[in-house]
Amino acid sequence: MSAPRIEALPEGVANLADFEAAARARLDDKAWAYLVGGAADEITRDANRSAWDRIRLHPRVLRDLSGGHTRTTLLGRTLQWPVLLAPIAYQRLFHADGELAIGHAAAAQCAGLILSAQSSVEMEAVAAPMHAEPEAGPLWFQLYWRDDREFMQALIQRVEAAGYQALVLTVDAPVHGARDRERRAGFQLPDDIRAVNLGGRKKPLDLRPGQSALFDGLMPRAATWREIDWLREHSKLPLLLKGVAHADDAREALARGVTGFVVSNHGGRALDTLPATAELLPPLRAALGPEVPLLVDGGIRRGTDVLKAIALGADAVLLGRPYVHALAAAGALGVAHALRLLRDELEIAMALSGCRTLADAGPPLLFD
Ligand code: FNR
Ligand code: LAC
Repeated sequence: MSAPRIEALPEGVANLADFEAAARARLDDKAWAYLVGGAADEITRDANRSAWDRIRLHPRVLRDLSGGHTRTTLLGRTLQWPVLLAPIAYQRLFHADGELAIGHAAAAQCAGLILSAQSSVEMEAVAAPMHAEPEAGPLWFQLYWRDDREFMQALIQRVEAAGYQALVLTVDAPVHGARDRERRAGFQLPDDIRAVNLGGRKKPLDLRPGQSALFDGLMPRAATWREIDWLREHSKLPLLLKGVAHADDAREALARGVTGFVVSNHGGRALDTLPATAELLPPLRAALGPEVPLLVDGGIRRGTDVLKAIALGADAVLLGRPYVHALAAAGALGVAHALRLLRDELEIAMALSGCRTLADAGPPLLFD
């Protein structure tokens, strides 16, 4: 399995949201519940979207925009445009090509890609098309901590050997959120879809009667600041944390050698009633200063959302569920098309708001 299959695009697709109906028609109720669901009442999932909608642009006119572009730099690397595919687990649930398709699509559209630790395709196969495209965006690997240092060491060595350029430790989900929608639908991972890059076995929980599976079983195994130090000592790759909401945690992370952050609430899938990421981002940028790499995800659906995120202080954004809708609807070609639509929208938004480059997008671009 090295070339993704080529499929027809659904008819009449004009934007990312248009892929959703095509995806719904192709997925069963269980996979759908897993994909679209958030935690509990889905307040945070929905808030992510509505927060971008509430922010209004305040355009400038009559500027000379010739020679404009969407390029930016991140961790010393030039990005053709500031969008990366978010880490999303088990993509063979949604299309037979799974993560292989998104490697090809991101490379074709010069987007970045953060591969989930729980990828259902081998990390080397996903990386190959990204390495073959000189203008592809960043290729990073997302980690969940496993309380087995030998296992973590071997995994990181493999990630480095496969040419991934940074590690992204997700810290907002040491345990699955309260996923009512998944439970109602009876979602369970099918036997033939696995996290193929994570060998070995998790140690079984060893509980005495009366102990809590969560606080006595899982939490003693979850990452703490000690594990951040360990990761810094055991890999030369930049380390970003995904899911830091509080400035004090971000400062502590920087003091321990962390490189940057993805401002995220896990698409509203972990703890419900967190603020929207459009609200979390500005105070983090203000607390950390202009140099610390900050990315943001959650509810990004439009080129105008990307521009607003940059104006609020993000260096780049992650796209989540919409690219999986495109994957389910039309495989690699669907994802590539979705990315192209988003980039076109970003370019149009820049041109119509008087931004020649992304450096022109700052707080004055926002109406208040
Ligand atoms: C995720 N997300 C996620 N995050 C992560 O760090 N590792 C993972 O394996 C996954 N898996 C995953 C599966 C599914 C089905 C979804 C929808 C999400 C969270 C993801 O990276 C991202 O933070 C959000 O999806 C961004 O929000 P939007 O764009 O989906 O609104
Ligand atoms: C999720 C986990 C895999 O959001 O991150 O489903």
